[in-house]
Amino acid sequence: MSELEATARSMVAPGRGILAADESSPTIKKRFDSIHAESTKANRRSYRQLLFTTEGAEAFISGVILFDETIRQSTDDGTPFPKLLSEKGIVPGIKVDTGAKQLAGAEAEKVTEGLDGLRERLQEYHGLGARFAKWRAVISIGDGIPSDYCLDANIHALARYAALCTENGIVPIVEPEVLMDGDHSIETCYQVTERTLRKLYSELYAQRVKLTETILKPNMVLSGNKCSTQAGIAQVAEATLACLRNAVPAEVPGIVFLSGGQSDEHATAHLNEMNKLGRAPWELSFSYGRALQAAPLKAWGGKPDNLEAAKQAFLHRARCNGAARSGSYTADMEKAA
Ligand code: 13P
Repeated sequence: MSELEATARSMVAPGRGILAADESSPTIKKRFDSIHAESTKANRRSYRQLLFTTEGAEAFISGVILFDETIRQSTDDGTPFPKLLSEKGIVPGIKVDTGAKQLAGAEAEKVTEGLDGLRERLQEYHGLGARFAKWRAVISIGDGIPSDYCLDANIHALARYAALCTENGIVPIVEPEVLMDGDHSIETCYQVTERTLRKLYSELYAQRVKLTETILKPNMVLSGNKCSTQAGIAQVAEATLACLRNAVPAEVPGIVFLSGGQSDEHATAHLNEMNKLGRAPWELSFSYGRALQAAPLKAWGGKPDNLEAAKQAFLHRARCNGAARSGSYTADMEKAA
């Protein structure tokens, strides 16, 4: 097994999953605004330190995705964050795309940027301790969209990113996110997700990427958030698994879902249900941002006095999602907290 495949497999080890803590500066500002905390560099460091120093979280967290600012930061005692994480057996990762921008000639669609200079940036991040990376493409569902133009542009970039990652000793997480925003049905989400994933795997093949050295980070197949009929837990789990089985080769070591705006408990329950169903050739895990951080962020509220409560809130969500990796999450776990 190649070193990259071994890293990819460790990222989807049983019982554990990934913490996405790679919010860009504008996104973390939005999160901090929601708790009336100021988004200063010092506050952002304190908040990330709180998450990374939560004792016991390493039992449920296999990797953390960092942002450029964060991978260069250290704990109060001067330990660089990547070193702290590695010593706990958590693989440090890095977001390398530079954001989704408006796609020229396609008003309602976006294309993710960040390929220029990427080889050199990956080499620097590897030196800073990163062993995996993330690139997120954003696909919207709406009137006549996504267009083939939008899908082709985004998927081409995702595959170029993935090829550069493996060339430089970094496992690529490929993330084509079909957004849940809109009044579309779960069936439409299924079709768009399948169409996106089929293009993705055909392009990864064309660009000579070894799938055993990659991780997929997809959306779940959900009803649009403004759809009048919302699919239940079992339907979401069945539809998501069916869609993935149709489009994702078995060589991929693991699939780590994004939470995408689902409630904390829905994100956990959906993953749990899929792992209960079984019959999947890949590990089914999580790479949650909001669904792991909403509770600790709220408990922290930007106040040093609340550090312990925030750590407990984070540990609780990590434990619940860790249980969902084997289908052993129950509603009682929420009550017990
Ligand atoms: P959410 O789980 O909040 O969707 O974030 C995951 C992520 O990393 C999106 O790129």
